[in-house]
Amino acid sequence: MEAPKTKVVVLFVSLLFILYPNVVVQRTLADGVTPDEAKQLRDEVREMFYHAFDGYMENAFPRDELRPLSCGGEDTLGGYALTLIDSLDTLALLGDRDRFTASVEWIGKNLRFDINKTVSVFETTIRVLGGLLSAHLLASDYATGMKIPTYDNQLLNLAEDLARRLLPVFDTPTGIPFGSVNLLYGVDERESKITSTAGGGTLTLEFGVLSRLTNDPIFEQVTKNAVRGLWARRSKLNLVGAHINVFTGEWTQKDAGIGTSIDSFYEYLLKAYLLFGDEEYLFIFQEAYAAAMQYLYNDPWYVEVNMDSGALVWPLFNSLQAFWPGLQVLAGDIGPAIRTHNAFFSVWKRYGFTPEGFNLASLSVQYGQKSYPLRPELMESTYWLYKATRDPRYLDAGRDMVTSLQYGARCSCGYCHISDVEFHKQEDHMESFFLAETVKYLWLLFDLAVGPDNLVENGPYKYIFSTEGHILPSTPQISLAREHCSYFGSYCKSGNIKQQHHKSDVASNLQETNDSRSFGSWAHGGLPSESTFSDSIPLSGFIKGFCPGLTHGQKFGVSYVMSADTQQNTPTNERAPTVSQRQSDTAPVENSDHLRPVNKKNHDNFQELDGGGSKSNSPQE
Ligand SMILES: *[C@@H]1O[C@H](CO)[C@@H](O)[C@H](O)[C@H]1NC(C)=O
Ligand SMILES: *[C@@H]1O[C@H](CO)[C@@H](O)[C@H](O)[C@H]1NC(C)=O
Repeated sequence: MEAPKTKVVVLFVSLLFILYPNVVVQRTLADGVTPDEAKQLRDEVREMFYHAFDGYMENAFPRDELRPLSCGGEDTLGGYALTLIDSLDTLALLGDRDRFTASVEWIGKNLRFDINKTVSVFETTIRVLGGLLSAHLLASDYATGMKIPTYDNQLLNLAEDLARRLLPVFDTPTGIPFGSVNLLYGVDERESKITSTAGGGTLTLEFGVLSRLTNDPIFEQVTKNAVRGLWARRSKLNLVGAHINVFTGEWTQKDAGIGTSIDSFYEYLLKAYLLFGDEEYLFIFQEAYAAAMQYLYNDPWYVEVNMDSGALVWPLFNSLQAFWPGLQVLAGDIGPAIRTHNAFFSVWKRYGFTPEGFNLASLSVQYGQKSYPLRPELMESTYWLYKATRDPRYLDAGRDMVTSLQYGARCSCGYCHISDVEFHKQEDHMESFFLAETVKYLWLLFDLAVGPDNLVENGPYKYIFSTEGHILPSTPQISLAREHCSYFGSYCKSGNIKQQHHKSDVASNLQETNDSRSFGSWAHGGLPSESTFSDSIPLSGFIKGFCPGLTHGQKFGVSYVMSADTQQNTPTNERAPTVSQRQSDTAPVENSDHLRPVNKKNHDNFQELDGGGSKSNSPQE
């Protein structure tokens, strides 16, 4: 696309969005995506990747991230070519051997972690450690088609070096790690003792893979211990809060939810089980998931509640929640995933992007949470739901996302953050996850529609996506294959089995494998005979492995601290900045009748925001 033309179109479309936020999108979605168009879209997404990747390499590398408007670079994490590391496995997925090889070789020669930098443990783990491990597993294995002949474990060695520099953070009384560490000097004595649940509980995949590749159990042990430390402090409702003191184990922020500060804690419980076959994670996931569905789910939305009382705190959609339907696909709970994705996508359609926060009571963008920093979560869920249902509406949704990104976010050297979804204002920043995840999931979506020809769908292994979108294979060395079904996902739910039947890719995946047969127990009776296997599997209510009636504690004899009582009186003395901003908002949340809509009465109001009838189209700010 020519640059000047693009600008005109951007202007025009932005104007239309401002004037008629609903009309534009509906027009572009007038017809469903045809197979030919899916192919074009896939290739357009590839071009999007290269626009941003080349923009980064030419203007920012080896700085961490690209400034896509001014065409410069900036160091945002450790100053070690973050975006390149985060892009490696996308290059491999796109089949770009040349760039993959050159990038891996450059990193092997030039990257060092003995630097005086204080970094976020969470971000460093999911972006850098995960990126290195994923690329290592691709580059070292002929079966992936990306084997680099000269490769000699350089990335694995770097990953191990980095992880050892992170290890000091786990040395706390609770086992829950500090949030930051200096790569050269360890944990600073003034380091904050408050960690988010996601920060402490989203390290298991990367560290676990490293342990299994290096045969040193320490990495797996400390991260599993951190999860246990968090889960031990869950409330009586089986909910976890958002922030915890890693020394005292007291929750300093007791809002339970599936979004900000907690999100990937849930994700890694299930995925650690799926990748490693370690059942303890499955048990914790089952309990945590059931509680989330009981206390946080207000069909089709999710709210935040006090972890002890279950009382509603924030009736907010936040854009990080959008990963949840994708996780539900892996868990086999498709029905709610479909409804929630619809609701979340209706927010996207309304603005052309999802704002960081959307108030479900006022049906408007949450004050102070207007931006869209190119986040991938909605694309991720769209991909998973398309994979599970093959419903073409997910391709339409994907096309809509491509359109928004192309017309609203594309800028001279890459893709720009949107600082205000109502006015589509661009900001001079591009997070590395745009290349690691956002375009990756879009590309996978359309490639799947075309008839997939890529590692993830047709490769030698099943892959688990890390929370940064890095693909981690279940090789025999990493997965304890005998311990779990080789179909990656289905949630053990013993109750309702009268769910709709989805014939899908997911079901046929089940058919492919032998392993599921060795777990011959289904909640709703015996194992279906082979002939009815694929068409009788209700994805919701399908049983993963065996489905014991024991709780995690009973099964493993671990009795967790029931610390809810002792914490009852602890004031919620520390809130994330975004939360205090929320307090300035109009809705007095705790006892406002007008919040009831989120629950039952008028929840239809929330189903579709794009119906033209929604009351609050006018910006509230
Ligand atoms: C490490 O970095 C900090 C912050 O940039 C600086 O104040 C300190 O002097 C550095 N230490 C050494 C030994 O270079
Ligand atoms: C299925 O199981 C049988 C018996 O356990 C085994 O011999 C066979 O190789 C397995 N097939 C696959 C595709 O794993």
